[in-house]
Amino acid sequence: MAGTPVTVIGMGMMGRALATAFMNAGHPTTIFNRTPGKAAALVEAGASEAPTAVAAVAAAPLVIICVRDYDAVRELLAPAEAVLSGRVLVNLTSGASDEARATAAWAAEHGAEYLDGAIMMTPPGIGAPETVILYGGSPSLYETHEKTLAVLGGGTTLISSDVGLPSLYDVALLGIMWATFNGFMHAAALMGTEKVAATDFLPMATDWLKGVASFLTAYAHQIDEDSYAAEDATLETQVPPVRHLIHESRIRGIDATMAEYTEKLLTEAISRGHALDSYARIIDHFRASVA
Ligand SMILES: NC(=O)c1ccc[n+]([C@@H]2O[C@H](COP(=O)([O-])OP(=O)(O)OC[C@H]3O[C@@H](n4cnc5c(N)ncnc54)[C@H](OP(=O)(O)O)[C@@H]3O)[C@@H](O)[C@H]2O)c1
Repeated sequence: MAGTPVTVIGMGMMGRALATAFMNAGHPTTIFNRTPGKAAALVEAGASEAPTAVAAVAAAPLVIICVRDYDAVRELLAPAEAVLSGRVLVNLTSGASDEARATAAWAAEHGAEYLDGAIMMTPPGIGAPETVILYGGSPSLYETHEKTLAVLGGGTTLISSDVGLPSLYDVALLGIMWATFNGFMHAAALMGTEKVAATDFLPMATDWLKGVASFLTAYAHQIDEDSYAAEDATLETQVPPVRHLIHESRIRGIDATMAEYTEKLLTEAISRGHALDSYARIIDHFRASVA
């Protein structure tokens, strides 16, 4: 039996993957892109390409949009405002929480129900059982469409009734990703100065990351309890090793900025009297920057 008809707006790499997953699961799928003709393979496989955004929105009760940013969402959907009423708009475009909330308010003004989602995966992983997509919005609306949305990823989850939360999770998780990428690039550059190939260094780095991830459990509890007794290493203990990293980087002509930043975080906290606390005490620095 055919599934719920869906429209997917945005035929970039991600939009094409989303439409493919819906089609594979038997959902009649309409597609639309600002620049036409970007998804010939999907049309060949049975998707119907709408000639305009209005026709695309009008084609299905469930409209998924995934484009570059929220400005593009509003630009694309502006001509279709009159046909939004009674439909469900699922916005899988990456953005910030304030943009998600403003877009939900705009959708409501035009009579559409709204879910916002953050895709924590690259296009080849769309449809896989482990793929995580975080949603925010009305629990009953989510429940109604959960089965359809789950074809995009087995880890599809409603994290909040607040449509802004998926974007916040998204940027927070991406921040961890980039910090980790940068740490690895710095390390690989250091090792490369002794001709250790990145692929040879990799197994040690990935095992180390597992250990590092395990330290976070204790730190998370300390942050929530606002209590930072060092159970592993004190801030004071970590100053010499970070200085070694700075020195080692400099003598090898490698940018030491990240290590210098870590040194700054440590020495700031120590100067505030926290020399014997755990690394979790560094949370104060980030909280103070937003206070
Ligand atoms: N790729 C990933 O790994 C990944 C992972 C998670 C989340 N995401 C998010 O998914 C979204 C789409 O990413 P993507 O990888 O599909 O990007 P992409 O391949 O660069 O495609 C961008 C899409 O946005 C459209 N677009 C750009 N500017 C527009 C405008 N001003 N008006 C209307 N349409 C516009 C493009 O249409 P044209 O073809 O007409 O230019 C195209 O459909 C982004 O928010 C991205 O952050 C991507």
